[in-house]
Amino acid sequence: MSDSSNPIKGMSDIFTPEVEVWQTLEDRARQVMTRFDFREVRTPIVESASVYMHSLGDTSEIVEKQMYAFETRGGKQVCLRPEGTAGVMRFVSGHLQDMQDGRLYYTGPMFRAERPQAGRKRQFHQLGVECIGTPSASQDAEVMALQAALFEAWGLNEVTFQLNTRGRLEDFPKVLEGLRASLEPHREDLCEDCQRKLESNVLRILDCKQSGCRAIVETLPPITRWMSGESVAYFEEVKSALDLFGVSYVVNPLLVRGLDYYQHSIWEVTSSALGAQDALAGGGRYVMSMGGKSIEGVGFGIGLERVLLALPDAEKKQIVSQEPPLTVLVSLGGEARQVNVKRMQEFRAAGIRVRMDLGGKSLKAQMKAASRCGARYTVVVGESEVADGTVQLKDMQDGTQQQVTSQDLLQRLTGA
Ligand code: HAM
Repeated sequence: MSDSSNPIKGMSDIFTPEVEVWQTLEDRARQVMTRFDFREVRTPIVESASVYMHSLGDTSEIVEKQMYAFETRGGKQVCLRPEGTAGVMRFVSGHLQDMQDGRLYYTGPMFRAERPQAGRKRQFHQLGVECIGTPSASQDAEVMALQAALFEAWGLNEVTFQLNTRGRLEDFPKVLEGLRASLEPHREDLCEDCQRKLESNVLRILDCKQSGCRAIVETLPPITRWMSGESVAYFEEVKSALDLFGVSYVVNPLLVRGLDYYQHSIWEVTSSALGAQDALAGGGRYVMSMGGKSIEGVGFGIGLERVLLALPDAEKKQIVSQEPPLTVLVSLGGEARQVNVKRMQEFRAAGIRVRMDLGGKSLKAQMKAASRCGARYTVVVGESEVADGTVQLKDMQDGTQQQVTSQDLLQRLTGA
């Protein structure tokens, strides 16, 4: 393929047979959302850069390195959304009256200028949920239960919920101070990046992948040590509520998440079926300042490309095989074609998946095209069939062919 027919680096075309898997995942997700009474919101892909700049954190990796931000011809700073939460909060801030306990979900493309690799794209797709409301441990658990229901509906059973807490907002200075003091004696042994983070973003040292840094952070006390009793009690309540909702989890004291808006519960869902990029999803409770208003909520974002990567091949095959069988009508001559066009429209109205050549191809070319597009049945009509009101029905799977009357044909195809 020439360069001009490829999408740009880190982005993909999605087509059959993969697109059927996407559609099925989306359909199943919508059913789960309805059962939990969440409603869809569709926000623009392009937002004012200010919607994302401060809410995600000025020193977060996304804002520092990964935002596709640019100036419009009118001189306005905009960006391609790198995630969904801040854009949805921008929407919520304009509808606060009706959104006191808003239960929202969204799906669509997100953009991050990352180095592409397996499971890491520049355009990727998230299915996200945001539930508006002040901190409630049961609400956090319900949102995680919804997420667990999604993975179950998709046939992804080997997932792990890794849970931690960042504590309430007021505790942050103490946590950062405590962490900094514990890490300072190890400054020289930290990687260069983490030495810089000691000043700018000390929490992120906890999830550094370098073995030297890992060895140090594993000796530290959990960050709950520097939190208030209130924050610790909230975390305990979340764990009890998860038990009540029947969601299994493991506590990961080193989980911090890369976005600044979180407080209290944070979590990631990982899958052993994935490689280095093993996070299927991330979520947490947050507080965000948007349009002069402070909005609290809890939610998650699931990376759909990664869900597809983690999905067993057998499950994907099964999804694709659930497509209704295709019937191709084959016509010999103009009169047969007219009869078939009418028939095709009737069949479609009856719910049958059907198509035909409209351009006057030869019988051989029509049959070849039918097998190329995966037809299960062909219905061949020539002059004599038009005259006596019959068709030749061929089962492309076992190769058998039968003469059937036009009246019986629909019944045969629908199996009624
Ligand atoms: P996040 O952890 O940045 O959280 O992204 C969520 C998920 O999106 C990741 O776990 C991963 O599956 C997927 N993802 C992220 N970046 C990429 C990429 N470059 N290529 C492929 N997949 C990727 C958020 O975005 C938060 N908004 C989640 C949230 C919602 N928290 C509260 N509400």
